[in-house]
Amino acid sequence: MSSQPLLEVNHLKTTFATEEGPVTAVDDVTFGVNKGETIGIVGESGCGKSVTSESIMRLLDEKTTKYEGEVLFEGKNLLQLSKADMRDIRGNKISMVFQDPMTSLNPVQTIGDQIAEVIVIHQKVSKGEAFKKAEEMLRLTGIPAPEKRINEYPHEISGGMRQRVLIAMALACRPKVLIADEPTTALDVTIQAQILDLIDELKSELEMGVIMITHDLGVVAEVCQRVVVMYLGQVIEEGEVGTLFSRPLHPYTRGLLKSIPQLDGDRTEKLHVIEGVVPPLTAVPTGCRFAPRCAFADDHCTSKAPVLEEIGDGQKVRCWKADELLKKEGHEHNAATI
Ligand SMILES: Nc1ncnc2c1ncn2[C@@H]1O[C@H](COP(=O)(O)OP(=O)(O)OP(=O)(O)O)[C@@H](O)[C@H]1O
Ligand SMILES: [Mg+2]
Repeated sequence: MSSQPLLEVNHLKTTFATEEGPVTAVDDVTFGVNKGETIGIVGESGCGKSVTSESIMRLLDEKTTKYEGEVLFEGKNLLQLSKADMRDIRGNKISMVFQDPMTSLNPVQTIGDQIAEVIVIHQKVSKGEAFKKAEEMLRLTGIPAPEKRINEYPHEISGGMRQRVLIAMALACRPKVLIADEPTTALDVTIQAQILDLIDELKSELEMGVIMITHDLGVVAEVCQRVVVMYLGQVIEEGEVGTLFSRPLHPYTRGLLKSIPQLDGDRTEKLHVIEGVVPPLTAVPTGCRFAPRCAFADDHCTSKAPVLEEIGDGQKVRCWKADELLKKEGHEHNAATI
C-alpha cells in the first residue's frame, strides 16, 4: 500500500447560501484514498455523501457554494484551481459515475458518439481512433457485441447496460481516481453484483483509487478495503473494513451494522433501526451531533463537540464514549471467558 494517498481530502467544509441563510452540508471531512484501494463512504440519506463527492469534483454552483479546506491531488489543492484547470482534471484524471444512468446519458446521441466525445475532449485523438477506443472500453465493461451496441441509443439497451456505458465513459480516459456515487442502487441485485465486480476488476487493471458512495454496508463489505462513516456532514468513524465491522466504535456505526439483514439470521427477528431522524442542517445539535439519538449520551456529549481521534489500527472515531465503551466491552468479554 502506498504511504502517500492518491487523493487527500483535508478538513473539507462545504457551505451553501440558502434563503434561510448559510447551511454547512459538509463540515470538517478528512480522508484519503490510495492507489488500488476502494474506500467506502456510508451514512443515512442526507448526511453529505454526495455533497462530499461533488465538492471533490467541484460540480456545485460556485455562485452559492463556498468550499474550505483542501482536496489534494498530485500536489495541488483542487479547490484553488482555475475553472479551466479543473475541467482538465474532471473526467480525465478524476471521473465520476452517478446514480441514475438514464439522466446522465443523452437520449438522442448514440452510445459510441457519447463515449467517443469524452475521449476526443480529453485526449488529442481523431474521431476514428476515439470510436475504436470507445468500443474497447465497452468490451472491457463486459458488454456483448460492442461493435453493434456502439451504434445504438440509450433507450435501446437495458438499465444494467446503460450503467456499464456510464462506467465505460467514466473510465475512457483511464482516470487515476473514480468516484462512484451509489452506482448500483437503481439496478436489480444480480446486475448490481456484476457492476460491483466490474468496478473492482477495472480498479486492479487500471490501478485506480475508488471512492464508493453507498448506504449499503453489504456493498462496503464486498468491495471496500476502508470505510468512512458520515453523520450529518461529518466523518464520525473511519477504519479498515475488517476492523470496523468486527469492532465498530461509534454508537451510530454500531446501529448501522445492526440494521443489515443477516442472510442466515432469524427472518422473524425485527430489523434494528436507529431511533429518531437526522436533524435538518438548520438545526445542527450543539455538542455531539448524534447525541440526541444516542443511548450513551450524557451532559458532556450534548454540550461539547468531540473531535475525530485515532484509536489504533488506523481506526478513528468522533465520540466521547468510545474508550469507555471499548473498556466496558473488553471487561465483559474477559469476565465471560474466565
Ligand atoms: N444545493 C444545495 N443547497 C442547499 N442544501 C443542499 C444542497 N445540496 C445538498 N444540500 C443538503 O445537503 C445535505 C447533504 O446532502 P447529500 O445529497 O450530500 O446527502 P447524501 O448523503 O448524498 O444522501 P442520499 O443518501 O440521499 O444520496 C442535505 O441536507 C441536502 O438537503
Ligand atoms: Mg447522495
